[in-house]
Amino acid sequence: MKTLVTYFSQTGNTKKIAEAIYDEITGEKDIKEIKDVSNFEGYDLVFVGSPVMEFNIPQKVTNFISKNVAGKNMAFFMTHAAPEGFEAIHSWTGSIEDFAASGNYLGTFECQGELAQPVMEMLEKSDDPEMKGFAAMVAPGKGQPDEAHVQKARQFAKEIQAKAQ
Ligand SMILES: Cc1cc2nc3c(=O)[nH]c(=O)nc-3n(C[C@H](O)[C@H](O)[C@H](O)COP(=O)(O)O)c2cc1C
Repeated sequence: MKTLVTYFSQTGNTKKIAEAIYDEITGEKDIKEIKDVSNFEGYDLVFVGSPVMEFNIPQKVTNFISKNVAGKNMAFFMTHAAPEGFEAIHSWTGSIEDFAASGNYLGTFECQGELAQPVMEMLEKSDDPEMKGFAAMVAPGKGQPDEAHVQKARQFAKEIQAKAQ
């Protein structure tokens, strides 16, 4: 069984989860940024990872999935600044299941990832009370993903690989 772990990561949080998944996977495996992957050919299982940006999964990630997933075992992992239980998390992960509908979708991992400091400062200085409110809500996520989330990601990798075999 050959596995690909591929991700988009601007500030390193999703990359950290990608590396945890990659470490846990057994057998032949590759880890690559999405920009370096042209298709899923030759892989029996693909993990795709992304941050949430501007209240959505970036379109380049959703396009990448829908273009390549047909007939493939795929799992998705995501980091976001929103705290655990934030309502939109389900709609973000749910949208991926739709984009991956032509493949064999095996599951999702999501966890909080610290919001980059410059973005945090911009939100804090904003005149928009909604933006200020979002900054206050995500501030406790500093230091995420932590070791506990990394361990959960490893567990997720094991479970997905077992499903794909
Ligand atoms: C420009 C920008 C927009 C973001 N928008 C959101 C958002 O709408 N909702 C959210 O929960 N997190 C948002 N985030 C936070 C990221 O999803 C989070 O910090 C993530 O862990 C970053 O992953 P990365 O380090 O792999 O890039 C945003 C971050 C940036 C830089």
